[in-house]
Amino acid sequence: MSGEALWRMSVAVILASLATSSALAADPALRDDALALFEPIPLSPDPAPDPAAVELGKALFFEPRLSEGHNISCNSCHNLGTGGVDLAPVSLGHRWQKGGRNSPTVLNATYNTAQFWDGRAADLTEQAGGPMINPVEMGSTAEHVIEQLKGIPGYLPLFTAAFPGDADPLTFPNTEAAIAAFEQTLITPNAPFDRFLRGDDTAMTAAQQDGLRAFMDQGCAACHNGVNLGGNSYQPFGLVEKPDWSILPPGDKGRFEVTRAEEDAYVFKVPTLRNIAITPPYFHSGSVWDLNLAVGVMGSAQMGTALDPDQEASIVAFLDSLTGDMPQVVYPTLPPSTADTPRPQQ
Ligand code: HEC
Ligand code: HEC
Repeated sequence: MSGEALWRMSVAVILASLATSSALAADPALRDDALALFEPIPLSPDPAPDPAAVELGKALFFEPRLSEGHNISCNSCHNLGTGGVDLAPVSLGHRWQKGGRNSPTVLNATYNTAQFWDGRAADLTEQAGGPMINPVEMGSTAEHVIEQLKGIPGYLPLFTAAFPGDADPLTFPNTEAAIAAFEQTLITPNAPFDRFLRGDDTAMTAAQQDGLRAFMDQGCAACHNGVNLGGNSYQPFGLVEKPDWSILPPGDKGRFEVTRAEEDAYVFKVPTLRNIAITPPYFHSGSVWDLNLAVGVMGSAQMGTALDPDQEASIVAFLDSLTGDMPQVVYPTLPPSTADTPRPQQ
């Protein structure tokens, strides 16, 4: 290599390293601007749910006997080993029936102001009963869920410990409340983004910091803000430009199904972007597998902006910084069935 080529190469290396180390200095307002829009996830659940309810709720979350066929638990579609989702366009439920929408993550769902893509459940407690009695999900009924749990002798002591004041603690509402208590513990603090917000200048790479700036400048944060970067408002999918029908299937009108108000047609809850890099496929239709493409769709559909590949990649670099510490869940040993326990209906 000639002396000049060598010299040019070392200048390039020095410039590249400067770009990395001086990213914050280049954008000194980045943290303050971000703190005006976002919040870090608390390091532990606050308020902390009751430990006995969490213990029961954990068993119920992993309990396949809550389903009619004894083969589907909450964890089947919200697998805690894969970011709280099933990594499929739509979920498979009772007797392999396909559901109509992509399974959203249960991680940090406690920070959403309503649950489901259309917000039809106000909170986690109200949500938890839905899948058990949904014919295409777990396929049971509220009465049968209680009959089933009463038929597994080990459950009554767990309900009694979790709901000590109740004369008859083994009820459907308590089942929902215990699952919700467990879900309050399913948070993912300490993502590079959270550490950056808390003051650690080295937590995010220069590319991630540039992506954060682009995310704010492009207007993404108008809808994806707060602790969950979403989960706190309803917005039309296709605010500026309707995406392709393969991404926004005409049959699912979102919040319209709940309110029957014309202005709610194709309105959906803005989803959280927490851990988004590990929870494909994307959108309520589960139709997009590539996060870069999902970002591009958002640019045109929500903002009327055609993002170029570099802008998409920059925003995706930021989205990568939203993956936090996964909850450490010890797989529960579930109370055993007896000869009298109601059998699966497959
Ligand atoms: C067969 C798959 C399946 C099973 C089993 C299942 N879910 Fe879901 N879950 C989904 C799908 C699909 C949605 C979105 C449905 C919608 O929005 O209409 C959802 C939505 C949710 C949400 C809302 C999250 C958000 O951001 O809106 C929570 C919380 C949740 N499920 C928890 C549970 C719990 C707890 C159980 C067990 C009692 C459970 N799920 C069982 C597929 C499933
Ligand atoms: C006007 C509000 C709005 C704006 C602005 C907006 N989004 Fe969204 N975003 C939504 C809604 C609503 C959805 C859910 C769409 C659906 O699937 O029904 C969504 C979905 C997403 C998803 C898929 C999430 C998942 O779990 O499947 C990603 C990724 C995303 N947005 C990123 C972005 C980025 C990056 C920007 C800026 C380029 C942006 N959004 C701008 C409202 C918005």
